[in-house]
Amino acid sequence: MANVVVVGAQWGDEGKGKIVDWLSERADVIARFQGGHNAGHTLVIGNQVFKLSLLPSGIVRKGKLAVIGNGVVLDPWALFSEIDKLAAQGVSVGPENLMIAENTPLILPLHQDLDRLREDAAGKAKIGTTGRGIGPAYEDKVGRRTIRVADLADPETLSARIDRLLAHHDPLRQGLGAPAIDRAELEAKLTEIAPKLLAFAQPVWKVLGEMRKAGKRILFEGAQGSLLDIDFGTYPYVTSSTTMSGMAATGTGLGPSAIGFVLGIVKAYTTRVGEGPFPTELTDEVGQRLGERGHEFGTVTGRKRRCGWFDAVLVRQTCAISGVNGIALTKLDVLDGFDTLKICTGYEIDGRHYDYLPTAAALQARVTPVYEEMEGWKESTQGARSWADLPAAAIKYVRRIEELIHCPVALLSTSPERDDTILVTDPFAD
Ligand code: IMP
Repeated sequence: MANVVVVGAQWGDEGKGKIVDWLSERADVIARFQGGHNAGHTLVIGNQVFKLSLLPSGIVRKGKLAVIGNGVVLDPWALFSEIDKLAAQGVSVGPENLMIAENTPLILPLHQDLDRLREDAAGKAKIGTTGRGIGPAYEDKVGRRTIRVADLADPETLSARIDRLLAHHDPLRQGLGAPAIDRAELEAKLTEIAPKLLAFAQPVWKVLGEMRKAGKRILFEGAQGSLLDIDFGTYPYVTSSTTMSGMAATGTGLGPSAIGFVLGIVKAYTTRVGEGPFPTELTDEVGQRLGERGHEFGTVTGRKRRCGWFDAVLVRQTCAISGVNGIALTKLDVLDGFDTLKICTGYEIDGRHYDYLPTAAALQARVTPVYEEMEGWKESTQGARSWADLPAAAIKYVRRIEELIHCPVALLSTSPERDDTILVTDPFAD
């Protein structure tokens, strides 16, 4: 039975939420495998709008199992606040529809403190993080001093873990001019939330393995985007997790053979939030127009997103690294009404041509995009549900993207509405 991994192929905010929701109808399980509540997924279902940060998008569908895998960093207080918000919208979340891996590391208030303290101290060199404590939480995971969900079950273990963690954090905080952690308060907070969280805890690797054997379909939901990947992104202006498709296996506890179809989500233009290189960025009125038409404001932080032309070089690169089998192209309608459109097909750096983005920061800073100009279209593509509904110039634009990124379009999304989607290849087809 085919499983599907969904990853953002740009800097995040490609419109993954809608596509995951659309695909979740065909899946039995929807699993998150990296990131935390730095993600922002907006789902529009009928006249209801759901904004999710930590919970898998499939949670809003009845009869599906949502999973938070060990590759995620989990803020328990953010989790329950999201669960409460969903309850107010009529979606109930309990252990029957949400399972959390026992070995998931926690994000604590001290991680958020550290995230903000460091960003403030960095001045102009700041990363532009979401301030959710993501980086510090991953650091503690690989530093072997984190508190994981299962640690909450035993007071003695928890106490020892807190000691180990504070032995690292208190001196760090002192150096940044922040007070030491109130140990008793932290322990009390964790002890209070422990039973609530433990009710969801499971050996996810085992349950998912058994479900897989029983023929259940798993949809792996990536967060952020490939260019924010800790290894392959525009380092250090990245998030702290692996956002590429391979993480779906290690971030849930299934082998790589469990990954079936890799679907890359690609926006018909480019955006990024936070600092860092962005070769096709437009700071003129065209960029302004893309931002306004595309409602490019962050779901999590409300920050204005930087906007630019479609960069085929970057998407070709991320599709190759994630082994993308097909893309879902989103927000084509934002390009309606432009006389001409530009696609970046290569870079010039110091007189040399590049067909990829080199790793060295000094080279990235000197990139000049090489553009190809295409004819725009005046008609509206919004809400199109078949190729026949699209103007010829729009089809030409999509075909040219496929050619340049070496990857076919599997799905085309033409509005935030669930049903405004053109299906070319079913990612779940065996
Ligand atoms: P962090 O993940 O909060 O550490 O932020 C690191 C970088 O990733 C910053 O540039 C953020 O703006 C960016 N980022 C994190 N999550 C998202 C997301 O869901 N969409 C877009 N950008 C994100």
